[in-house]
Amino acid sequence: MRHCAPARGPLRGTVRVPGDKSVTHRALLFAPLGDGPSRVDGWLEAEDTLRSLEAVRVLGADIQRGRGDLVIAPGSFPQAGDASDEALMVDIDCGNSGTTTRLLLGLLAGRRVRARLDGDASLRSRPMARVVEPLRAMGAVIRYLGEDGRLPLEIHGRSLTGISHGMTVASAQVKSALLLSGLTAVGSTTVLGGGRSRDHTERMLRAMGAKVTGDGDEIDVCSGSTLRAFDLDVPGDPSSAAFPLASALLVPGSQITVAGMMLNATRTGISEVFRRMGVAFTVESTGDAAGEPVGGLSLGFGPLRSFSLGGAEIPTLIDEIPMLAVLASRAAGITRIRDAADLRAKESDRIAVTAAGLRALGVEVAEHPDGMDIVGRPEGYPVGDSVVVHTHGDHRIAMAFAVAGLASSHGVELDDDDCVGVSYPGFFDDIERLQGGGAPG
Ligand code: S3P
Repeated sequence: MRHCAPARGPLRGTVRVPGDKSVTHRALLFAPLGDGPSRVDGWLEAEDTLRSLEAVRVLGADIQRGRGDLVIAPGSFPQAGDASDEALMVDIDCGNSGTTTRLLLGLLAGRRVRARLDGDASLRSRPMARVVEPLRAMGAVIRYLGEDGRLPLEIHGRSLTGISHGMTVASAQVKSALLLSGLTAVGSTTVLGGGRSRDHTERMLRAMGAKVTGDGDEIDVCSGSTLRAFDLDVPGDPSSAAFPLASALLVPGSQITVAGMMLNATRTGISEVFRRMGVAFTVESTGDAAGEPVGGLSLGFGPLRSFSLGGAEIPTLIDEIPMLAVLASRAAGITRIRDAADLRAKESDRIAVTAAGLRALGVEVAEHPDGMDIVGRPEGYPVGDSVVVHTHGDHRIAMAFAVAGLASSHGVELDDDDCVGVSYPGFFDDIERLQGGGAPG
């Protein structure tokens, strides 16, 4: 249990959020495919990304950790081809990380390896068929060890053949898995229906010299290129930045800057929503890192308007929706969130869990299969005591409601705060420092 107290004063100053989680996962998982040692600086060292690092280690990559950076060489990482029936079984614990699991499935399906993948209770409840089915259509041999469509499972590497696959959900994880399997497949592999889902895999594989063409709704990959090693600085995570930014929007007198933040348009949908909410913010571009635009975003406290959210923009802010829902709870008017049914298949059922947390704070919420309606209360939450919010072990729920606690009159009790370590281990310290005037930029 953690008491998230009301803010003791405005949030001020500059904060640098940790390295981007999606880019870190990809850098760690793709480095062993390069033609030599790759260097990754500014990577996110958190529970989820450490699962990817441990996975490539047990798969044979050579890893050297420096102060802040990592050097990863291919070592004995499995090559493309058929695994023999006698190949040693590699056990990989993916913990809470859907990205580790789904990207590994694509990475390993066409390589000389046998692996058993498992995860925690939350990950075991999440859908894997969306990756397993198209991989099987390419020739992958994957066997569920428990319930159909769920972890744990076993994968037996096989030579693959490229396919064209239309996704039913615009998922960057499914897209990435298929592009990775396509690197080892005969012929080309096409992924349709990616919409505005994050494009870090395409960018990174292209930078390594892979034959990846197209973008958005139709992406092709061909095997056969030698992939180059890389040297990259991971930019700050916009999904983590959402929490200090939202805190500043809700606490009177606040004015903050998040520096060094990745500004990739497939990840910054939240800034479009800020505009609709009437937030005045500035973005200063400062260069690029890992082939991604980077800059600072500054904003401060002010009145918020309700907003509507849906359609093709959902993938550009999918992980920010719990935080946006908390902002909506303090905006004037009724906010409508739709087309986000996949939120029910994240680390928790983020529609049900967010709605329950808001209701505990006295907010009127109507749940829909693919979203929710939230009646904003700019005047404050109508509760006379601190309230308990159940995080269901979900890092983004914990941080979103810690922010609600800052904006409440009596605070919020989180039943679990350790889960923030999945993506933003320094979250509580950063919020504390900003209340004391901010960290050096
Ligand atoms: C991620 C993609 C998103 C996102 C997740 C990370 C990625 O999932 O919710 O936190 O790194 O590719 P989907 O692609 O399944 O929507």
